[in-house]
Amino acid sequence: MDNIRSIAIPPLTDDLVRVLIDAETIQRRVAELAQQINKDYADITEPLILVGVLKGSFIYLADLSRKLTVPHVIDFIAVSSYGKGTVSSGNVRLLMDTRENLEHHHVLIVEDILDSGYTLDYLVRYFKARGTKSVQTTVLLEKPDRHVVPVDLAYVGFTIPDVWVVGYGLDYAEKYRTLPYIAELKPQV
Ligand code: XMP
Ligand code: MG
Repeated sequence: MDNIRSIAIPPLTDDLVRVLIDAETIQRRVAELAQQINKDYADITEPLILVGVLKGSFIYLADLSRKLTVPHVIDFIAVSSYGKGTVSSGNVRLLMDTRENLEHHHVLIVEDILDSGYTLDYLVRYFKARGTKSVQTTVLLEKPDRHVVPVDLAYVGFTIPDVWVVGYGLDYAEKYRTLPYIAELKPQV
């Protein structure tokens, strides 16, 4: 059994301090969030539009959407507020817009992590201005110690301390995105 585990789960590299949230715990929580979303949107008449914020949300979006029983459509948007490193800025730029017409639809923004809040604050206002029926947000992770602008979060996976995390879609300079767990990056990396 130990043998199977060590083959299936990639070990920590020298850049990583520890596993913060293991794969099983993530899957359980994603299923709970999906269940809540299924309840809350049970009565919608148009499909719910899930807008994944590229790139970090792609694995969370894939897992969450496959557990949804409410009719839904997948879309993506890309914004940039960070360079390649980990320094935050309030300067959000739209890199790629959605493909769907969002007018008269309920929109659920799917984001990997809420840090300062600049990204989601920008996106919520952007989607509300496009004639949507409603705009809600879900984040897999949030760092309460880092909030600068308040954002209304409808579905939160986990609250985490102020450390840089990677895995399950999240990266450091494009590394570690496909780890099945969330791990803490060494501060000096
Ligand atoms: P804001 O500050 O706008 O940031 O809420 C949201 C975006 O910042 C990125 N981010 C992280 N990415 N590990 C990552 O891989 C982290 O610990 C982390 N903290 C913030 C992320 O792209 C998110 O969309
Ligand atoms: Mg992101």
